[in-house]
Amino acid sequence: MRSTLRSIIMASFDVSQAKAYFVLGGPGAGKGTQCAKLVEEFGFTHLSAGDLLRAERDSGSEAAELINDYIKNGLIVPMEITIGLLKTAMESAANPAGYLIDGFPRAVDQFEAFEATVVPAQFCLYFKCTEDVLEQRLLERGKTSGRVDDNIEAIKKRFRAQSRCHEIDSTRTVDEVFADVRAKFASTSA
Ligand code: ADP
Ligand code: C5P
Ligand code: MG
Repeated sequence: MRSTLRSIIMASFDVSQAKAYFVLGGPGAGKGTQCAKLVEEFGFTHLSAGDLLRAERDSGSEAAELINDYIKNGLIVPMEITIGLLKTAMESAANPAGYLIDGFPRAVDQFEAFEATVVPAQFCLYFKCTEDVLEQRLLERGKTSGRVDDNIEAIKKRFRAQSRCHEIDSTRTVDEVFADVRAKFASTSA
């Protein structure tokens, strides 16, 4: 019964009407931490592009080897693959509350292709953080290196031009950051 109901909801869910929010910021900026809190408060589905790519790599699918090569070399996986994974995950979650797309887009062409083939984003949240703080957090998380993507600057510019980029100072405590994040969603997702 439950799975029948789920199939009906999925079949009637049109991803081009979904609410999508891009969540960007350097590694360690707190994207995952803040997304988890947003999921709890607003019922969004959190989709991390990196996690979806790693899961696909580990699934042994046709694209697994190719994805592995890109990730291993720290390169951006061809966007058709990443966008396909995001779209499938959105369709299968069929969540009317919306989707937090974490770590995507990594380049302006990814942003344009996603908006043209999936859905335009409501807005982009950018967690701004100094490299010192990122480094400290990543060391604490047990990692030895991180990568801040150059293209984030170009993406932010596009969103800013359309007043769709909200920059948040994420050097503060988790709760201080979340107070701003929550307010942003509360004022726009009513
Ligand atoms: P990202 O997903 O952007 O890489 P995470 O959410 O995984 O970042 O956070 C990286 C590390 O920093 C984690 O150990 C997390 O607990 C910690 N962290 C996240 N936000 C804050 C914050 N505002 N203050 C201090 N530590 C934080
Ligand atoms: O975001 P995260 O650090 O988890 O990404 C890990 C790897 O996944 C990146 O180094 C990159 O190879 C790949 N990736 C990508 N496109 C994205 C996000 C991640 O190719 N939008
Ligand atoms: Mg993360």
